[in-house]
Formats: sequence, structure tokens, C-alpha cells
Amino acid sequence: MRGKFITLEGPEGSGKSTQAKMMIRRLAELGIEAITTREPGGTALGEEIRNILQHNQAGEAPCERAELLLFEASRNQLVEKVIRPALENGTWVICDRFMDSTTAYQGYGRGLPVDEVKAIHLFTINDVTPDLTLLLDLEVETGFERIAERFLALGESADRFEQEERSFHERVRQGYLKLAAEEPDRFRIVDASQDPKTVSVDIWATVKPLLKGE
Ligand SMILES: Nc1ncnc2c1ncn2[C@@H]1O[C@H](COP(=O)(O)OP(=O)(O)O)[C@@H](O)[C@H]1O
Ligand SMILES: [Mg+2]
Repeated sequence: MRGKFITLEGPEGSGKSTQAKMMIRRLAELGIEAITTREPGGTALGEEIRNILQHNQAGEAPCERAELLLFEASRNQLVEKVIRPALENGTWVICDRFMDSTTAYQGYGRGLPVDEVKAIHLFTINDVTPDLTLLLDLEVETGFERIAERFLALGESADRFEQEERSFHERVRQGYLKLAAEEPDRFRIVDASQDPKTVSVDIWATVKPLLKGE
């Protein structure tokens, strides 16, 4: 049987990485083989693209459409090298960000035409569509506070997206909510302001039906 493909979406600091780890542990306990991967990145080529996108190593920020296409290049590599083979093998895939991040950040955030962005996704994902997308919804300010703590704890610095102004992140949040409203069968909105355990319980309630192939 084909594995299930679950994507985690939401702003920085909403708990995607935390919840991906918890979900993998839970699936493992049930004897379900599952992998996590992240975007951009997840392949050798993808991680190089991630570096370009987040840390501006060339000293020249990508133009808006170039940025979009770099994300799409990383994504197609991940789809063909990792996600599709895993799913065909019966392995579940939990992906920390996927195409909806691009619609939210490059479409709603940067202002690129959303319908065109979505059309490019279809070309990129080549029929590998998430079975379930969890939107970890959170107030922009709360996410900022959480990552500020992470910066202090780990001595990391903000990447190009984290440096964007507040209104950008507000547009991203509203864009995500719009996407979820447009595709209620695929999306579930989770209140990410709750403590990690409670969030994981809410998430599990939406993942569980997939076990029975529902
Ligand atoms: N539900 C939560 N409540 C409070 N803090 C959280 C919660 N989930 C995650 N965190 C903390 O917030 C920070 C960001 O979490 P993370 O999982 O890395 O988010 P993301 O991957 O969405 O950016 C981490 O320091 C993490 O420990
Ligand atoms: Mg993360």
C-alpha cells in the first residue's frame, strides 16, 4: 500500500519541527515506517539551494520570480528523489513545509500572482499531492517570541525571511488561512498556541483516520 504524505505548514516558530518529531515517534510506536524531510532542502542539491535562499551567500538576493523558481527546483528534486520513492515503497512522509509555504510566502507575502504560483506547483509536484496538510496557526508575535528564544539559546541569527517586516508575516498568515479555507478536505487548522503536548493530541486526531486508509 502507498504510504501517506503529510505536510506541516505555518509560520516560523509555530512548532512544525517539534511536531514532525513527535509524529514520527508515534508512527514508529505503531510499527509504521515514516521519514521526515524539510523544505527547501532534503536532498544534496536541495540543501545547496536552501543555503542560497536563506543566507544569500552570493551576496545578491534572488529576484522574486527567481526565488520562487529556486524553491520549485529544490521541491521537484525532493519529490522525485525522496518523496515519491518512499510513498511507493509504503513509507509515510512527513514534510516540514511544502508547496503551500511557497504560495503563502512568495504569493501572499511577496505579492506574486497566486494563481500563477499554484500553477507552477502542479508542474513541480507532478502528481505527488499531500494527503493531509496541517496548518499550525499562530499569532505572528508569538512565533517571533519563540524564535527569539531559540536565537538566544543556540546563538543562531535570523535568515532572510525572518528579517522580513511584521506586515509580511501577517500577509503570510492570512494567506495560509485562505488556502486552508479553499481546500478544506486537504487542510486541517491546528491551534499552535497551545502547549506542544496538546498540539500533538490535536494533530494525532487528524492523522489517525489515515491509518485506516480513510
Ligand atoms: N507548542 C509550543 N509552545 C511553546 N513553544 C514551542 C511549542 N512548539 C515548539 N516550541 C518551541 O518554539 C521554538 C520553535 O519551534 P519549532 O518546532 O522549531 O518551530 P518551526 O519548526 O515551526 O519553526 C522551539 O524553541 C520550540 O522548542
Ligand atoms: Mg522548523
